Amino acid sequence: MGMGNGNGRVRVLIPEESIDRRVAELAEQIARDYRECREAPPDGRGPLTCVGVLKGSVFFLVDLLKRLELPVAVDFFQASSYGEGTSPGEVRIKKDLDLAIRGRDVLLVEDIVDTGHTLNTILSLLRMRGAASVRLCALLDKAEARQVEVQIDYCGFTIPNEFVVGYGLDMGERFRNLRYVGVWEPGQPEVPSPS
Ligand code: IMP
Repeated sequence: MGMGNGNGRVRVLIPEESIDRRVAELAEQIARDYRECREAPPDGRGPLTCVGVLKGSVFFLVDLLKRLELPVAVDFFQASSYGEGTSPGEVRIKKDLDLAIRGRDVLLVEDIVDTGHTLNTILSLLRMRGAASVRLCALLDKAEARQVEVQIDYCGFTIPNEFVVGYGLDMGERFRNLRYVGVWEPGQPEVPSPS
């Protein structure tokens, strides 16, 4: 089963139910770990600040935060992606945070960690701005593709080194709104012919 367009198709890798289950587990784990943020602590540290990386993480972030039983602040960050005048390892900020994060606990929410360059840059920036703590929650970990080390504190799924789409991830802006994560298979017919 999958979605095709004549030039290829999407093979389901992680079905909707598995994503939903895992997202609920992650939300429970995060709520447990940040329990002290439930009530405003005396030093005025404020609520956990959840930062989504546009645009891919939006679908995951919304589902995660709807299940997270903690007071949170939400903000977004956008880095430039491949093919926009950058070489791998070079990351530019397209949209910065609106909120000041000095002294805040920050949870960075990302769709996928691939080479690790983007996340590495964003994480160092958040730390440089004086966040009290910075942790990373990533739905997908393409561990074999890693070029720079990134610590993923909350990881949804480790996946093989293949190009995936759906649940926020796109291929030229297509497929973001699929409810599952799938592998893009170029040149495959929509309905596999019987062999
Ligand atoms: P990085 O290589 O870890 O810096 O990943 C940078 C960005 O590339 C991710 O945030 C995604 O937006 C995108 N990306 C990496 N792998 C995939 C993929 O398999 N499908 C779609 N986008 C991807």
